[in-house]
Amino acid sequence: MRKTIIAGNWKMNHTGKDAKETITGLVGRVVQDVKAEVVVAPVFPYLPMAVELTKGTPIHVAAQNMHWEESGAFTGEVSPAMLVDIGVTHVIIGHSERRTYFNETDETVNKKTKAALAHNLTPIVCCGETLEQREEGIMQPWIEGQIEKALEGIGADDLAKVVIAYEPIWAIGTGKTATAAQAQEVCSIIRKKIAALYSADVADSVSVLYGGSVKGGNVAELTGSPDIDGGLVGGASLKVDDFMAIIDNAV
Ligand code: G3P
Repeated sequence: MRKTIIAGNWKMNHTGKDAKETITGLVGRVVQDVKAEVVVAPVFPYLPMAVELTKGTPIHVAAQNMHWEESGAFTGEVSPAMLVDIGVTHVIIGHSERRTYFNETDETVNKKTKAALAHNLTPIVCCGETLEQREEGIMQPWIEGQIEKALEGIGADDLAKVVIAYEPIWAIGTGKTATAAQAQEVCSIIRKKIAALYSADVADSVSVLYGGSVKGGNVAELTGSPDIDGGLVGGASLKVDDFMAIIDNAV
């Protein structure tokens, strides 16, 4: 049985005081027997604080990005070993904002995914199409191509540790959620692609999340769909009440 995962991607939001208040608020409300696996992804400077505040709780801490190299002359970058060293357990890889604004490519997504697995970090690998691609009718080959390239060279044994997040670019921060049927269709395409690349058993073990305007009011229908195993949440993860409504209503 795949576990429901609710991950909050804070993006470049919250300075220290707000980050502390939000995490403290979540710690007070996410109970030990929470049904979903809860993950929060603050910006790099507050990761150690997030790790410290969530110690002994069911809340996991993710980075929003990392480099794939161990160390060296890569000004401004952070390595997987550094994240592990401070107690981070998850890392978001290949978010569409990184692909659009920071030259993230399928090749770097693949390198980062392999590096995360090599360091026992759970990679949350993002994929998604633009509205134009959807309207042109090329959504399916685009998504399948992103999945194939992201997972290239990764063994079947490692796949169960990979989380995929389907985030249609047209639904991010727009208030336009994909309908549960649209999200389910693409999450099923992703699972079938993984089955074709590996096997049905491997595909069954991979968690596939949906991201794009997830809220307390739509999370039940989304996560109630057979191939949607949780949500990658942006805006609604910044406030404790909003994020808790998602965690509590996820199925
Ligand atoms: O990674 C989460 C994301 O891109 C969705 O953002 O604000 O539409 O929930 P939002």
